[in-house]
Amino acid sequence: MCDFHASSPSLPPLAADEYKVDSPWVRAFVKDVRGRIERAEDPQLACELISPLFAELLSDRDWLPAHYQEPAAESGMGGGIGQWLIFRAADRSLSLFSLVVSSGAMTPVHDHLAWGLVGIYRGTQDEEFYRPVAGLGLELVRRRPLDPGDFYALLPPRDDVHRVRTTSDETSVSIHLLANDTGCVWRHTYAEDTGEPQPFRSGYVNAACSNGNSVV
Ligand SMILES: [Fe+2]
Repeated sequence: MCDFHASSPSLPPLAADEYKVDSPWVRAFVKDVRGRIERAEDPQLACELISPLFAELLSDRDWLPAHYQEPAAESGMGGGIGQWLIFRAADRSLSLFSLVVSSGAMTPVHDHLAWGLVGIYRGTQDEEFYRPVAGLGLELVRRRPLDPGDFYALLPPRDDVHRVRTTSDETSVSIHLLANDTGCVWRHTYAEDTGEPQPFRSGYVNAACSNGNSVV
């Protein structure tokens, strides 16, 4: 097994896989994704192998409850942005969550520290990738509009630091499938004027990062 299959070393394991949306459809998706990741030799190939499954996920209107498509006032992302956990692996090596961004709102510039896929389920977004340049700020690498069904890969360190903003009149919902417990790892936001990273943990609206008796 290759190193990239390893779990998140900074977080203690959960007692079991956690399905916040527990349906045969979601369980079958996760099982298929895991099988394809096991066959992959590196993150890029893993993203290619799971892409057809992810495209299906984005096109199906029935599997994601309405609640997981709502903003959240108490969000760790700020701006009422809802980050709703759908599934995470007990060893924290995989998470599936929705990110809900109201019309006109945007995330801070941030990283994920994990490879994976991100795609639009509802509404439209502009996605901007940045390269932090020490002492100089953030260099815009690319900006592109995203419609429902569009998705892209995150492959750190090259493609990781980004920001999304909702461009539709309706709230946007994007789906994230990433190779860590993204809401619970300590990652970074980046100051727009200096490019300086700041420690950041977004959390989830509907799940804790604590594990039994330990708080991480
Ligand atoms: Fe992101």
